[in-house]
Amino acid sequence: MLEAILLVGGQGTRLRPLTISTPKPMLPVAGYACTEHQIARAKEAGVERIVLGTSYRAEVFEEYFGHGEKFGIEIIYAVESEPLGTGGAIRNAASHLISSGEDPVIVFNGDVLTGLDISALVQKWRTADADVALYLTRVEDPRAYGLVPTDADGRVIEFREKPTTPEELVTDQINAGCYIFKRSVIDQIPSDRPVSVERETFPELLSSNAKVIGVVDDGYWLDLGTPLAFAKGSADLVRGIAPSPLLKGRTGEALIEPTAKVDSSALITGGTYIGHHAIVGANAIITGSVIFADVEVGTDTQIKNSIVSTGANISSGCEIVDTVIAERAQIGAGVKLEPGTLVFPDESR
Ligand code: GTP
Repeated sequence: MLEAILLVGGQGTRLRPLTISTPKPMLPVAGYACTEHQIARAKEAGVERIVLGTSYRAEVFEEYFGHGEKFGIEIIYAVESEPLGTGGAIRNAASHLISSGEDPVIVFNGDVLTGLDISALVQKWRTADADVALYLTRVEDPRAYGLVPTDADGRVIEFREKPTTPEELVTDQINAGCYIFKRSVIDQIPSDRPVSVERETFPELLSSNAKVIGVVDDGYWLDLGTPLAFAKGSADLVRGIAPSPLLKGRTGEALIEPTAKVDSSALITGGTYIGHHAIVGANAIITGSVIFADVEVGTDTQIKNSIVSTGANISSGCEIVDTVIAERAQIGAGVKLEPGTLVFPDESR
């Protein structure tokens, strides 16, 4: 039986204020929790059992996913009372796995949107008889990521987290947040303290001569960790640029829930998602944005590349660009917000 661990216990600090009450992997992207898109993709790849490694706001996941009955996959929870870091979370989750010894275990970060062919990655891990296979992607500016150079045979040479000097930029290949582990390798991770898989486990595996391979996949990949990336990821899903089994046959310039009321003169485009019971007034223009449930948008308001959280109210004639508006915040008529503004819950502008 193919099993996976999904890491969903992070604080999501870069996505505050959205993550004050909702953990990042549960925020809706194109109408579904990011985790739900991942579970659907894992299921498509033949995964039958998923352990969710939770910590921050752990209860929210269990309430939503239960034991997985509605999602056609068995879901188990490994809850950390204190966050154990990515490596510690993998180790903690492993005690709930049925797999043993040489079996493959798929591990995903909970905030990554990807078109990776998971089965192909497992196959490459198998063919190479690797201890760990890492999914790598290429990015133009790798400075914010973990660099993973490989040799001609695909073996990982080193791990370089978030390089700061030009000399350190040895490759454009980065850790894309999905791994295939040999089950027995997970059991070597210390269980009694926080461990970072990127900074500790992987470098240690290299020092002990373990076989760690990197598999570059140039398909769709996006880390949803920042507000702009989050809005882009949602828009890419809505437009069908990012693949998700949950949206098959429903992609286009906008995804509007049937319970939302959008005035016929409003222009909703660029992959915008409009949530349940939201109201959008006449002549509003909304582009590339995520509008959560119960939001009200006034007449003539323009919103671009922004995220407006549950129950927020934006009055008429506003200009909102590259902005995050938290739940129940109130924006008065005619307000123009500087790009990059974060409006906190219950705040007024
Ligand atoms: P930032 O605080 O904005 O950096 O976000 P984050 O807390 O999610 O951290 P990061 O993006 O580095 O985490 C990568 C993945 O690992 C995400 O899916 C997190 O949910 C998950 N993760 C990070 N730390 C922990 C942890 O201590 N426990 C568990 N279970 N998951 C974690």
